[in-house]
Amino acid sequence: MRTQVGIIGAGPAGLLLSHLLSQKGIDSVIIESRSRFYVEGRVRAGVLEQGTVNLLVDAGLGQRLMKEGMHHHGIEVRAGGESHRIDLDSLTGGKGITVYGQQEVVKDLISVREQQNGEMIFEAQDVEILGIHTKKPKVRFSQAGDQHELECDWIAGCDGFYGVSRNSIPESEVRSFSREYPFAWLGILVEAPPSSDELIYANHENGFALHSMRSKERTRNYIQCDPHDKIEDWSENRIWEELHSRLETIPGWKLLEGKIVDKGITPMRSYVCETMNFGRLFLAGDAAHIVPPTGAKGMNLAISDIRYLSAALVAWYESKSEGLLAQYAENCLRHIWRGEHFSWYMTKLLHKFPDGSLFDERLQKSELEYLFRSEAASKSLAENYVGFSFE
Ligand code: FAD
Ligand code: DHB
Repeated sequence: MRTQVGIIGAGPAGLLLSHLLSQKGIDSVIIESRSRFYVEGRVRAGVLEQGTVNLLVDAGLGQRLMKEGMHHHGIEVRAGGESHRIDLDSLTGGKGITVYGQQEVVKDLISVREQQNGEMIFEAQDVEILGIHTKKPKVRFSQAGDQHELECDWIAGCDGFYGVSRNSIPESEVRSFSREYPFAWLGILVEAPPSSDELIYANHENGFALHSMRSKERTRNYIQCDPHDKIEDWSENRIWEELHSRLETIPGWKLLEGKIVDKGITPMRSYVCETMNFGRLFLAGDAAHIVPPTGAKGMNLAISDIRYLSAALVAWYESKSEGLLAQYAENCLRHIWRGEHFSWYMTKLLHKFPDGSLFDERLQKSELEYLFRSEAASKSLAENYVGFSFE
């Protein structure tokens, strides 16, 4: 088999890259280890920055997004019995966010690749990358017991944090940075109407909680939990009890319950691999960087990487110019480190640190008070939340 760009992973990064390349007549093949059913059903992110929405709409992917996506002008932060609304709209000169599930973005992308006969290989096993330092790198994989080799000009490693791409770069070349957090998030998807028009981020003595949504009939809620907890440790009763305690801190506000249709625990970490390319392999999205989900940045950063990678590959095919490919990591890393800082800030601001000192607690309390009282602090949060623009 042969293609121009071999793409490993059918998450938002890999699928979007394939679509943007095909719009410029560049051929690609996506190799994904999971089934299409699994990838389309995986419940994850929900918040799209304005820049992400604009890119998806410009790429012809706005039909369902503009109809079903919920545009929000603000978010609410609750702490110490107080509520503070961050008016994204007025603080950022009219920007906002759109709530639209990641799996809906994935479904839209798979559907458009399918309509255009783009090749997507699902349930590939034993995926291996070979010859990235040569001009003809290959992806070797097996499917239904048969072995295949895909010869490419370039390989895009869009296979998430646990994929094979990053580990194909020689260890001695990898420059990486990381931080672990002493907690995780338990996320649930619920058949119930949202209890608020906007997202609620809550700092509470028992730990962080977030009330989000997917539609007028479905909500998405998260609770800080211990990173060693198993999903069986959390009965439905325990989940609701904690959500009520952590979120119902404002007189008269009630969280609506409903049937829980999905639940899972996500560990939290910050990680950046600054070596985003080696030879003919380019890393994008979670394959190169992870943020704790508190700032809602992960998928937005994955899409930001693809904006640069697609432009760089298009420039190479159109004029054999390697300039943008050479600048790829540097261009992406400005956004990545901004996202890393903001996600760390939001995580530190809103979570209960089990090993934190009283001094740390007082600092957090003061920081929250400052955010609730200072327009400058709210503006800074708003500017980062909707997506900071370096232009
Ligand atoms: P992925 O979506 O992880 O896709 C990688 C793909 O590669 C997967 O389909 C995987 O099956 C496949 N793969 C893995 N290994 C291999 C292999 N060896 N061979 C072939 N294929 C392989 N981000 C936001 O922007 N906003 C949010 O609100 C937000 N909330 C989040 C909430 C939670 C609970 C979680 C867990 C994440 C959240 N994120 C959020 C982060 C976001 O989901 C990720 O950053 C995003 O999925 C990254 O996309 P990706 O395409 O790089 O990687
Ligand atoms: C959602 C996820 C996040 O990480 C976040 O900060 C806000 C919303 C969500 O899944 O809806």
